[in-house]
Amino acid sequence: MKARSARRADEASSIPLSKLDVSEAKRFQDDSIWGYFERLRREDPVHYCQDSCYGPYWSVTKYRDIVAVDTNHKAFSSEQGVTIVDVPDEHWTPSFIKMGPPKHAGQRNTVSPIVAPDNLAKFESLIRSRVRVILDGLPRNDPFNWVNMVSIELTTQMLATLFDFPFEDRRLLTYWSDVAVTPPRAGHAIDSWEKRRTILSGCLEYFTRLWNERINAEPRLDLISLMAHSPDTSHMKPDEFLGNLILLIVGGNDTTRNSMTGGVLFMNQYPGELRKLRDNPALVSSAVSEIIRYQTPIAHMRRTAAADCILGGKQISKGDKVVMWYISGNRDEEVIENGDSFVIDRKNVRQHLSFGFGIHRCVGRHLAQLQLNILWDEILRAGLDVSVVGEPERIASNFVHGYSSLPVRIAA
Ligand code: HEM
Repeated sequence: MKARSARRADEASSIPLSKLDVSEAKRFQDDSIWGYFERLRREDPVHYCQDSCYGPYWSVTKYRDIVAVDTNHKAFSSEQGVTIVDVPDEHWTPSFIKMGPPKHAGQRNTVSPIVAPDNLAKFESLIRSRVRVILDGLPRNDPFNWVNMVSIELTTQMLATLFDFPFEDRRLLTYWSDVAVTPPRAGHAIDSWEKRRTILSGCLEYFTRLWNERINAEPRLDLISLMAHSPDTSHMKPDEFLGNLILLIVGGNDTTRNSMTGGVLFMNQYPGELRKLRDNPALVSSAVSEIIRYQTPIAHMRRTAAADCILGGKQISKGDKVVMWYISGNRDEEVIENGDSFVIDRKNVRQHLSFGFGIHRCVGRHLAQLQLNILWDEILRAGLDVSVVGEPERIASNFVHGYSSLPVRIAA
C-alpha cells in the first residue's frame, strides 16, 4: 500500500489546476497542504479558484506578489474583511485591521503605547518570572499537553496583563479568542453565526464593565484605558468596541501560542538545530524568528480589489477576493533558500512574511518575539529536555495555523 504522504503528493500534482482549492481546512489539519502550495508557486502563482465553500477567490502564493498586495492598501483593501470567510452583514464587527487611513492610523496609534519599547522593557521581568513558575511546575517523566500547560497559559496571562483583565477569569479570553476565529460549522460546538454572536456578546458585556470603570478613572497603560481615553476610540459603538477587542485578543493569543508550540515540535523534528541552540544560546532570537517563519501562525490575510488591476500577469476585477497565503510565501524558494527546512541560523532570518507588511503590519510583533525569546532562554537555562511523545493535533482552520495538542515529556 502506498504511504500516505506519497498519495498526498500524487493528489497535489494530479488534480486539475482549475479544481485546486487550497482553502480546504482539512488539508491544514492533516498537514498535507504543502504540496498544493508548492504546485501553485511553480505553475500558477496568482491562481483563480472559481468554486470553493467561500465563493470564488484568488490565491497569491509567492513572496514578492504577497508583499506587492500587502503594501498596496489602496488597490487591495482590507475594508471588506481580512479572512477568506465572508461574515454576514448582520454579524459584521468593524475593527482597525478592517479600516484604511486615516481612521486606521488613529486607532492603531491609540493602542500602540502598550507595546512600545519602554513598556516592553517593563514587561520583561514579569514575563520571565511567569515563564519560570510555569516551567518549574511542569510534570517530570509524565506526558502532558504542552499547548494547554505552557502555550495557552503563558499567552493568556500576557493578555490579561495587557487588558488589566481579572486574572482569575483569564481563560475566558482564550475561550472568546477560539470562538472568534472559528467560523460556524454544522455539527460543531459553534454551529451558527447566532450562537457565535451570543457568546461574543458575553465578551462585550464583560469588557463594557471594565470600560465603565476605567473611563471614570485616571488614564492608565492598559488596552481598555487607552481606548476609553483616546479621541479616536472613546466614541466607538458597541460593535466596533467588540471588533477591536476580538482583534486584540486573537492577535495576542492564537499567534504567539502556536509559535510556542511549533518551536518545541520543530526542535524535536530537527535535533541538530536544537544542538546548535544549546551550544550557542546567543542564537535564541534568530531561532525565534525562524520558528515564526516556519510556523506562520496566520496562514493567510485576505484583501478585496478596489479597482480592476493586473497582478502577476492576471487580470483581477474590482471586488475580487484576493488571499495572500503567507504560509506559502514563507517557503518560496526564490526568496527563502531551502525554505522547507527549519534552520535557526539561516541568512536573513527575519525576512519572513508572518507579521505581514504595509500599514497593517503586526503591531504586537516585538511583544510576541520577547515572549518567545524568554521562553527559549529559560528552557535552555533550566536545561529542560522536552521530547515530543505523540502526534500533534492540528486545528482545522485555513486562517489560524496551529495546534490543539502536543503531547510531550520532560526527562527528570
Ligand atoms: C496584525 C501576525 C502577535 C496584535 C497582524 C497581521 C499578522 C499578524 C499577519 C496582519 C498583517 C497584515 O495584514 O499585513 C502575528 C503573529 C504574531 C502576532 C505571527 C506572533 C507570533 C501579536 C500580538 C499582538 C498582535 C502579541 C497584540 C498584543 C495585532 C494587531 C494587528 C495585528 C492589533 C492589526 C494591526 C493593524 O491593522 O494595523 N498580526 N501577530 N499580534 N496583530 Fe499580530
